[in-house]
Amino acid sequence: SESLCGESYEECRATADWLLSNTQVRPTVGIVCGSGLGGLAEMLKDPQYFKYCDIPNFPQSTGMHSWYSHGRFHLYEGYPIQKITMPMRVFKLIGVETVFLTNAAGGLNQDYKVGDVMIMKDHINMPGFAGNNPLVGPNDDRFGVRFPCMSDAYDRKLRQMAHDVASELGYNDFFREGVYCVLGGPSFETIAECRMLLKLGADAVGMSTVHEVIVARHAGMRCFALSLISNRSVMDYDSQEKANHEEVLETGRQRAEQLEKLVTTMVARLEHN
Ligand code: 6GU
Repeated sequence: SESLCGESYEECRATADWLLSNTQVRPTVGIVCGSGLGGLAEMLKDPQYFKYCDIPNFPQSTGMHSWYSHGRFHLYEGYPIQKITMPMRVFKLIGVETVFLTNAAGGLNQDYKVGDVMIMKDHINMPGFAGNNPLVGPNDDRFGVRFPCMSDAYDRKLRQMAHDVASELGYNDFFREGVYCVLGGPSFETIAECRMLLKLGADAVGMSTVHEVIVARHAGMRCFALSLISNRSVMDYDSQEKANHEEVLETGRQRAEQLEKLVTTMVARLEHN
């Protein structure tokens, strides 16, 4: 079948076969890391590296550090939305069953503090309201159904496991569960937009993850996602605070080790079950 940006079944199959023929390992967990959270890559056992430019059909990242962050693709980089999520389909075809995703997000919920970790229990796909959903276009039944359910997008058992692991690691003080709202970016939200999103039921706001989860769920993979609250959304006109990317990266550096510990403990537990 035809595709505009390399996400057709045949193209993903070719990419998956290339990867499978270039490594002996067959992991069933896929991980995508967010801004400042790429340190997880260093926790991998016997890593094998592939440059995105060597992988057939793969999107080429615009970020300098994408190699460390495992290079996620964002809407704001100008990629077609299907291209952003194409790696999820490759995950599926190389045997991945469970996807872990991390991101940095702004805290809308007024109880949230910088450095809090929020497990995603649900999302609001704002670009989707305007027709920007990665599943727009012809459906290929080999991946999944035309109208996939999203009310169980964030796996309940994995969320429970995250709570258990967080307790054991002593993370309760900064551990949250909430709703993530995705926007297209790259500009941060205005004050009015933040107020609106909070009223709509969002606890955190960011620019990633949701598109990947939609395509992963379409293909039947289990998803676990968490947001590092890297800054508090500015909610009133007297505030002198301003969202900036440096703060996002700095918060990531401070919590990175604990996040890595959480995810690696969860992955180890999955492998033993
Ligand atoms: Cl405040 N907004 C958005 N859209 N994305 C973010 C963020 C804020 N902080 C980190 N990522």
